[in-house]
Amino acid sequence: MTAIPKHFKALRVEEAQDGEALSYSSAVVERSLNELPANDVLIQVHYSSVNYKDALSASGNKGVTRQYPHTPGIDAAGVVVRSQDSSIAIGQSVIVTGYDLGMNTSGGFAQFIAVPAQWVVPLPEGLSLFESMVLGTAGLTAALCVEKLLNNGLTPEQGEVLVTGASGGVGSIAVALLSKLGFSVTACSGKADSQPMLKSLGAQAIITREELLGQGNRPLLKERWAGAVDVVGGEMLWNVMKSLRYGGSVACCGLVGSPKIEATVFPFILRSVNLLGVDSVMVPLAHKTALWTQLASHWHLEHLADLAKIITLDELQAGIDSLLQGQGKGRLVLELGR
Ligand SMILES: NC(=O)c1ccc[n+]([C@@H]2O[C@H](COP(=O)([O-])OP(=O)(O)OC[C@H]3O[C@@H](n4cnc5c(N)ncnc54)[C@H](OP(=O)(O)O)[C@@H]3O)[C@@H](O)[C@H]2O)c1
Repeated sequence: MTAIPKHFKALRVEEAQDGEALSYSSAVVERSLNELPANDVLIQVHYSSVNYKDALSASGNKGVTRQYPHTPGIDAAGVVVRSQDSSIAIGQSVIVTGYDLGMNTSGGFAQFIAVPAQWVVPLPEGLSLFESMVLGTAGLTAALCVEKLLNNGLTPEQGEVLVTGASGGVGSIAVALLSKLGFSVTACSGKADSQPMLKSLGAQAIITREELLGQGNRPLLKERWAGAVDVVGGEMLWNVMKSLRYGGSVACCGLVGSPKIEATVFPFILRSVNLLGVDSVMVPLAHKTALWTQLASHWHLEHLADLAKIITLDELQAGIDSLLQGQGKGRLVLELGR
C-alpha cells in the first residue's frame, strides 16, 4: 500500500456575511489530514456522488449544515487506509452514506474522510466502488421506498405504479428498480427530453407534472396508482394520495417541490391508503448493509453506468447548481483520483 499523504484535495464551502445577508461560495482547496475529525476509520475516497441534500449543504441550508467552512458530500466509496476498529481492515473497500457524513462531519467531496466504524458498510460482492456511487444515497433511498411498498403488500398484479421526479437521482433508480421487479411503472417528469432515458430504464408510460397536477380540486380523484414513490412532496404528493387505488401506498421521501402538504383525511378514511415515510440517513447499519447486499445481487441493475455522468472536483459546483435548479438527470458521480 502506498504511503498516506499529509494533504488532500477537497471542496470547501465558505460563508460570508454582508450586513444581515449570508452568502456561500465554494472552491477546491488543499486540506491537511489533521483537520479531519478524530474518528476510527480513515478512508481514501475513490468516488462520491451528488445528491439534492449536498446541494442544500453547499448553498447554506442550516437544516442540513450548521457551520461553515464545510466540505459537503453525504456519500463516499473508497478504501480503508487506517483503522482503529478490529472489524474494519486496512485495504478493505467500503461504502459510507448518510448518518452525519457531509452534514456536520467533513464529507465525501474530498479525497479522504474520517468516520466512526459504525457508519461503514463493507462493499458487497457484485458491486464495484463506482457502481456503489452511481447508486449512492439516491439508490439506497429508492431501495428503501421499494422495500416499504413491498412490505405493505404491493405486487405487480395490482396495477400501475407511479414515480415522481422520475429523471432525478432517487426517481430514476426507483423507475429502474420497480421495472426490474416486474412493475408497470409510470414516470412523472418535468423534462420533455427525459423520455428516452426513462423508457430505457423501463418506464411503460410517462406523464408531465401538469397532467398530474391539473386534475382539479376535488377531495378524491379517479383511482389510478396501486403504489407510488414520491420525491417532490407538496401539491404533487397530495395529488398522488388522492389518486391512489383502494388500499394503495405512497412512499414519501422528498421535498423538492415543497415540504408542506395541505391534505384532508378522505383518502385515508374512504380509500384506506397508506402514507409511508422513508428516511435513509439514520437507517440502522445492519438494515443498510442488507439493502446494499440486495442492490448488489437480486436487485442489481444492469447498465448502471448509463445513469451516471462522471465529474471531477473542479466540475462539482456546476453539478450542484444543476440540482438546485431542478435540472439534475440521473446521477452525478464524483471521481476523486488517486
Ligand atoms: N428521505 C431520505 O432519506 C432522502 C434520501 C435521498 C433524497 N431525499 C430527497 O428526495 C428528493 C430528491 O432527491 P434527489 O437527490 O433525487 O434530487 P434530484 O436528483 O435533484 O432529483 C429531483 C427531481 O425532482 C424533479 N423536480 C425538481 N424540482 C421540482 C419541482 N419544483 N416540482 C416538481 N418536481 C421537481 C426533477 O425531476 P423531473 O424533471 O423528472 O420531474 C428533479 O430531477 C430531495 O428532496 C431529497 O432531499 C430524501
